[in-house]
Amino acid sequence: MMEKNIVTIEFEALPENQSFARSVAAAYVGAADPTVEELTEIKTAVSEAVSNAIIHGYERKGQGRISMEMKFVDRDKVFIRITDQGCGIDDIARAREPMYSTGSDMEMSGMGFTVMESFVDKVLVESQLGVGTSVTLIKYLDTYYDL
Ligand SMILES: Nc1ncnc2c1ncn2[C@@H]1O[C@H](COP(=O)(O)OP(=O)(O)OP(=O)(O)O)[C@@H](O)[C@H]1O
Ligand SMILES: [Mg+2]
Repeated sequence: MMEKNIVTIEFEALPENQSFARSVAAAYVGAADPTVEELTEIKTAVSEAVSNAIIHGYERKGQGRISMEMKFVDRDKVFIRITDQGCGIDDIARAREPMYSTGSDMEMSGMGFTVMESFVDKVLVESQLGVGTSVTLIKYLDTYYDL
């Protein structure tokens, strides 16, 4: 396994950083010359993971930090790992079920993990109550980074 171009950014859990993270991920993956579709899928999955960290992990309090680690593996796979030190998830399998949500507002459909799963090839979730959550998005690209 060959890892290339490992980049990590860290930012505060503020709502405006959802679109910031989305743009950073797009700029990063752009180096591999992805298709417009791949790019949209990655941006959407990143948005969902970051919004979960802001809304659920840190309960919209805007206090806490989120890191986003990005790397290419074997030239055609991109790994993006979003980590928070928020409240954690007590039942990961249930949280990943379509339409499961602990969110109180009606706009929350419980589809974030389902969207991530449909837009990237693998979604790994690690979480511990009171410690935090880490979501790794893995996308196999049709193109190669550094051909
Ligand atoms: N980073 C996180 N920290 C704590 N809990 C989380 C985190 N991410 C997800 N969860 C839990 O998993 C549930 C499901 O997440 P999912 O993104 O699928 O739906 P949602 O955020 O509730 O709604 P939607 O994403 O459709 O607006 C959340 O309601 C929340 O309970
Ligand atoms: Mg969500």
